[in-house]
Amino acid sequence: MGPATSQDLVLRAPQTQDAAAIHQLIAECPPLDLNSVYVYLLLCQHFRHTCVLAERAGHVDGFISAYFLPDQPEVLFVWQVAVHQRARGQRLGQTMLEHLKQRLDGCALRFLETTVSPDNLASRGLFNAMARRWQAPLQEQEFFQSTLFGRQAHDAEPLLRIGPLGAA
Ligand SMILES: CC(C)(COP(=O)(O)OP(=O)(O)OC[C@H]1O[C@@H](n2cnc3c(N)ncnc32)[C@H](O)[C@@H]1OP(=O)(O)O)[C@@H](O)C(=O)NCCC(=O)NCCS
Repeated sequence: MGPATSQDLVLRAPQTQDAAAIHQLIAECPPLDLNSVYVYLLLCQHFRHTCVLAERAGHVDGFISAYFLPDQPEVLFVWQVAVHQRARGQRLGQTMLEHLKQRLDGCALRFLETTVSPDNLASRGLFNAMARRWQAPLQEQEFFQSTLFGRQAHDAEPLLRIGPLGAA
């Protein structure tokens, strides 16, 4: 499937040539954990069909990394969602998630999962908005407790699950 364009916004699958710019975007989007460039290269190489890059005027304004759970192909796990400060509050987060869901039409996708720390209101707002938009239930359960992060101080990461996704 080719890139989807709306005005000057281009939404597309990322390529390995985008990995360094994605790394830079994530570095500028706290509280996201910054992974190595190598991790973003792997995402662009092996998981590009379930990732989204948002570009405007040659700048990377947004990125989503996601993958299907290896043993549950109906569950899409959304790893990181980032929208650059200059592009926030314009529904880009929602637009990227909608683009991804439409791109995966025809796959067995029934549930979207993600983890969100308790005090990340923007992220919670985004996934609440998607559950409303897709008219699907949203449930929260314990997932990665803070102790699992070892000596690194890190908030717990409860799991949010949206679905089952219907035709709505
Ligand atoms: C979370 C993030 C991706 C949202 O991107 P965005 O494009 O500004 O979000 P949208 O404009 O699509 O808004 C989605 C919904 O979330 C809500 N929202 C956005 N920012 C919010 C905030 N700071 N506080 C509360 N709600 C917020 C919006 O009101 C909207 O809901 P609505 O349609 O009911 O009004 C962006 O703030 C970001 O990159 N934050 C830093 C990284 C991060 O925390 N990522 C999330 C980890 S998964």
